[in-house]
Amino acid sequence: MNSTIVEQIKDRLDIVDIIRQYVPDLKRAGKTFKACCPFHHEKTPSFTCNNEKGLFYCFGCQAGGDVFDFVMRMENIPFNEALEKLAGLAGVEYKPQQPSSAEEQRRAGARKALDFAKTFYHKNLLSAAGSHARAYVKQRNLTKETCVKFELGLSATTDFTALIRAARAAGYSEQDLKEAGLCAQTSYGLRDYFRNRLMFPILNQRGDTVGFGGRILGEGEPKYLNSPETVLFTKSHVLYGLNFAGPAIRKAGRAVLLEGYMDVIGCHQAGVDYTVAPLGTSLTEQHAQLLKRYSENVILLFDPDAAGIKAALRGSLILISKGLFVKVASLPDGLDPDEFIAQRGKEAFEQILNQAEELIAFHTRQQLARYPQPLSAQHKTHVVTELAEVITQQPDAIVRREWAKYVAEQIGVDESLVLARIQRQVRQVPPQGGNLPVAPAPANTAEEDLLAWLLCAPDQIGLCEDLAETDFSSAGAYRLFASIRQHAQAGLTGQALLEKAGAEVPSLRKELFKLAFVQTPADFQPARDIAACTAKIKQNGVQKRLKEVQRQMKVLGAGNVPQELIKEYMLLQTKLKK
Ligand code: UTP
Ligand code: MN
Repeated sequence: MNSTIVEQIKDRLDIVDIIRQYVPDLKRAGKTFKACCPFHHEKTPSFTCNNEKGLFYCFGCQAGGDVFDFVMRMENIPFNEALEKLAGLAGVEYKPQQPSSAEEQRRAGARKALDFAKTFYHKNLLSAAGSHARAYVKQRNLTKETCVKFELGLSATTDFTALIRAARAAGYSEQDLKEAGLCAQTSYGLRDYFRNRLMFPILNQRGDTVGFGGRILGEGEPKYLNSPETVLFTKSHVLYGLNFAGPAIRKAGRAVLLEGYMDVIGCHQAGVDYTVAPLGTSLTEQHAQLLKRYSENVILLFDPDAAGIKAALRGSLILISKGLFVKVASLPDGLDPDEFIAQRGKEAFEQILNQAEELIAFHTRQQLARYPQPLSAQHKTHVVTELAEVITQQPDAIVRREWAKYVAEQIGVDESLVLARIQRQVRQVPPQGGNLPVAPAPANTAEEDLLAWLLCAPDQIGLCEDLAETDFSSAGAYRLFASIRQHAQAGLTGQALLEKAGAEVPSLRKELFKLAFVQTPADFQPARDIAACTAKIKQNGVQKRLKEVQRQMKVLGAGNVPQELIKEYMLLQTKLKK
């Protein structure tokens, strides 16, 4: 049933319109549309989108697929959520069925339980029982509106099962509450996970509540308790405040990374609303990817103590390796961002941000501070090695070169020596994310052309009849060909053909989408050109076989070569001359 809905949605929606909502600078270029890719960092557009075919493909990072793939990837959501969203946009009626798989059922139960808990805690903060917590919030300079906006709450002060009982009465099962990380089995029985804490609902970038952070009221350990990881909550994938900050980051053209919940809330309240924070974990690649959807500029605002500096140094490398441009700033007088902004206001805060230091300058300064000046030769080589490690994480060649120049000047060594040190490290360390690129399936142009053109003119498949597996240069190319042939012979064309073939060889799906974007020559004549490609591939096959036969003949040695092999050799020679 879903497949017909999928088709209806695709018929009604123009992929270009959908993509443009996320990639505003999508521009027409001939038959396709182009923009800088939203999935990786780049300066010149290699992201293409074709509305006739209903596909997108990035020649830079090989991301590709249909409108569902795009939305799933962009929003980081599973297929059924993309379906629901796109059905709404297309005006196609779609009622999500009762979650079928056990996994989906668990997620749905947990999601509802989290929403229930959020309301429960929030009401509690606003009730008579919450006066001590309200006093605390006020003392932290937060207004009532801010408490409402961030849906702050309070978990029960002395009662160990307040949430459990209320949720059970409202129809939630123990299972839902456990899945949501809201209660835990103890030796005294089932207990609420949070007690007497100021509750910060944690929302993902889409605004779904996925967990909580709870700050102890008064003294106690731990100061902050976060929800355990659940089916909905992976701490290292979430940035606190991003549900509000997303649009503001796009508008400001920069994001600011802070350390804590309170800092984010304080900054938003003061009007610096492009700020977010990780959940007390170090920065991860997922954080970097998330931020990149909104802006390529990130300012790290860190605590200038030793631990803060170390965390900033480490975090910055992860961010740059994902193509973000990073600056670092810190506040004077040991103030936290929420304190600073409450005392000195938005302007003073933004002034600090505007004075943020370029990442390479920050790293260089940190390195120089480790050794007495002027640097000895030994210290110079240590420093350059350390800084070369930073520079190698920079994926942009132009920036990399600028950084090398800067480091050379600051340390007082020749630029060529810094570059040489970088080279050495590049060779030693595989780039982050590390696997070697897998050889693309169609390894030569004739194969690539043939497959691309067959996708345009599948009715010409008859011209390829005598192509055999051994004619192709790789198993992947043949598999793609065989799959296209099978469905073309069955009469499929266009998107239906692509989809069937793509579903059949999932590992080569991307490759197939890439082929669908190959431009046919201006004077494309399907029959003539496909026949020519077929002949070329056949010739390649002959050549390949000839080489093999020659090798065997050489191994056997003159006089020992059997008649059949000699015959085959002659035959291949004549075929080659044709
Ligand atoms: P901080 O200790 O800097 O706290 O932790 P804070 O945000 O300044 O808190 P206030 O101002 O005293 O209320 C920064 C972040 O680290 C995580 C939290 O996400 C916190 O916001 N953290 C901290 C924990 O997860 N657990 C802790 O025990 C402490
Ligand atoms: Mn603080």
